[in-house]
Amino acid sequence: MNFISSDDFSKEQIGHIFKISDDIKDNKQEASIREHSTMALIFEKPSTRTRLSFAVAMAQLGGVAIYIDALTSQLSRGESIADTARVIGGYCDFIAARLYRHADIVELASASPVPVINALTDLEHPTQALADIYTIMQHFDSVKGLKIAFLGDVASNTANSLMLTGAKLGAEIALIGPAGYQPNSVYFNRAREYSKVHLYSSISEGLEDSQIVYTDTFVSMGQEAEADKRKKLFSQYQLNSKALSYASEKALVMHCLPAHRGEEITADVIDGTRSIVWEQAKNKLLINKAIILYLSEM
Ligand code: CP
Ligand code: NVA
Repeated sequence: MNFISSDDFSKEQIGHIFKISDDIKDNKQEASIREHSTMALIFEKPSTRTRLSFAVAMAQLGGVAIYIDALTSQLSRGESIADTARVIGGYCDFIAARLYRHADIVELASASPVPVINALTDLEHPTQALADIYTIMQHFDSVKGLKIAFLGDVASNTANSLMLTGAKLGAEIALIGPAGYQPNSVYFNRAREYSKVHLYSSISEGLEDSQIVYTDTFVSMGQEAEADKRKKLFSQYQLNSKALSYASEKALVMHCLPAHRGEEITADVIDGTRSIVWEQAKNKLLINKAIILYLSEM
């Protein structure tokens, strides 16, 4: 089994992964995989958290992760994704890949003889969304009925995965961005099959009663050429103390990081008492361990 999309795991499977995470956290489960198991980390884009948390997860589970910079591999000289997957799958037990094009990870997974994990593409960031929802569950009894608001680039990979995972577990999702700027229709429509998902251009309306306020960079990796245009487009959708005042009184602030203080979020908000971003980042390690253990059981 692969973990390419936030739609790959059912609600029950997500529950199972969260249970593994709880058991690891509470030392109830011996967190180990077959000794010397290996994971190839193929990265076309930069990463601090995802790359390191997978590497540490493998090490702490008794295996090892090997980093492959796509730029210094034969991928950079045109070797096909499928051939690369077949070869790496002959050496390693898992592949985690961060690629520009989502279609490339689909191709990688279809050729790979071993499980492939999406470590972010232009369309999705599914491991992040699991860590995010798991983090939310540490603060609320249930995700069902919670209102999770995403402010800013509502068509980003992070927004796509968050809305799909959150809606699947019964959260209400509010996407708040500039009038005329649309979320990705595939993810939006799919998430609406699971729960209430609404698009707002008014910050006060969208944030009303929300218990989680989430934001991400205005300029995702691969969009650097449009940086000025995007910063201008989203500038009114900054997560600052005024925006936060429209949310529920106890609303918590999340960001997948890296953050750009003064752009999508202000320093007082991300470094303030309602921010749970460090806990969120830390949970990536726990969730990645649970994902690896779950996939190795399949
Ligand atoms: N949140 C996240 O995926 O961070 P990195 O880009 O550092 O991996
Ligand atoms: N949306 C961001 C997420 C980074 C973890 C990006 O793709 O750059």
